[in-house]
Amino acid sequence: MGKNILVTGGAGFIGSNFIRYILSKYPDYKICNFDLLTYAGNLENLKDVEDNPNYKFIKGDIRDEKLVDDIISQEKIDLIVHFAAESHVDRSILNPDDFITTNVIGTHNLLKSALKNGNIRFHHISTDEVFGSLSPKDPAFNENTSYDPRSPYSASKAASDHLVRAYYHTFNLPATISNCSNNYGPFQFPEKVIPLFITNLLEGKKVPLYGDGMNVRDWLYVEDHAKAIDVIIHKGKIGETYCIGGNSEKTNKELTYKILALTGKGEEMIEFVKDRPGHDRRYAMDTTKIKNELGWQPEVSFEEGLKKTVEWYKNNESWWKNVKSGEYQKYYEANYGNKIVKNIS
Ligand code: NAD
Ligand code: TYD
Repeated sequence: MGKNILVTGGAGFIGSNFIRYILSKYPDYKICNFDLLTYAGNLENLKDVEDNPNYKFIKGDIRDEKLVDDIISQEKIDLIVHFAAESHVDRSILNPDDFITTNVIGTHNLLKSALKNGNIRFHHISTDEVFGSLSPKDPAFNENTSYDPRSPYSASKAASDHLVRAYYHTFNLPATISNCSNNYGPFQFPEKVIPLFITNLLEGKKVPLYGDGMNVRDWLYVEDHAKAIDVIIHKGKIGETYCIGGNSEKTNKELTYKILALTGKGEEMIEFVKDRPGHDRRYAMDTTKIKNELGWQPEVSFEEGLKKTVEWYKNNESWWKNVKSGEYQKYYEANYGNKIVKNIS
């Protein structure tokens, strides 16, 4: 049977890749993309699906409790996949307020409305950053690792995860959570390290490497994340958490050298800059549970994914140039104006 899915934050990086994946895989599913279009939301990410009759976009804020409730009831939603969040650690250090309101209160509004409108199936997208920071020899995070968030971003995501669990345990809301490692791929906003470094190098600018460059992240190609969410919403066990990762740990230095090679630049383009305050040293994910229980594992190797990503940024210069110049924010006004667009047929 077809599903009627509310995707929050679908104009962002992972949400837009997820929407494209689901619309092409399930022709009988309908998607309502609910997004505030903050600096990180960009409807150009979804230009190729905007005429799909199974897709509609609604501009709005998950912090607006009444609007959230109206949309969930009017659209007859039967599944919520919740991506919307403030997502960049550096911004959370400069100005944490929106992280608390969007990530915590916004999530709570969605949970309340899911419960009120018939106990709607809820999948919450979260991050490995809620688990804190690993030393080089520590075992990878898994579903039983204690929470130990250390930035305003990860603390706000941890709070939202706790609320989702509370709604499952206390009110029986049919919810699942996934905690994923760092994503990369097409349409990622060039404030995150991979697209920032690629686009800087394509523009002939240096790349700012924080601290000693030895912090480690576990990289996952974004389409593999979309596939993991697909298996969880279809086969995941209610009340469970699933850790998702790329089994691909890299130091930032290694990553930078690979990007330099793919863009044909030399190490003189690296600029070591002051470290991020509270910079988590290492993240790594143990993905045994989702592999054994749901049969998911990453399909794209880091080498292949990074190559595809660099190619994408080379071939889509107008996309990232518009983003870097701020032009992209005019797309919505020019194409839609301030109104709800399209009815699901
Ligand atoms: P993103 O910053 O690219 O996109 C976030 C989207 O949410 C944007 O379209 C933005 O307009 C929207 N949004 C923000 N505040 C909103 C609000 N108040 N109401 C409605 N919409 C709002 O983020 P992303 O990288 O695509 O991440 C998506 C989700 O995945 C987030 O929950 C993030 O915590 C999680 N996550 C991201 C990564 C990663 O590597 N990027 C890894 C693991 C988990
Ligand atoms: P980022 O893409 O911000 O993701 P997160 O902090 O959520 O993991 O950063 C990834 C890594 O790259 C992190 O260790 C910080 C580092 N980094 C830099 O060295 N320079 C930069 O300009 C940025 C944005 C990040």
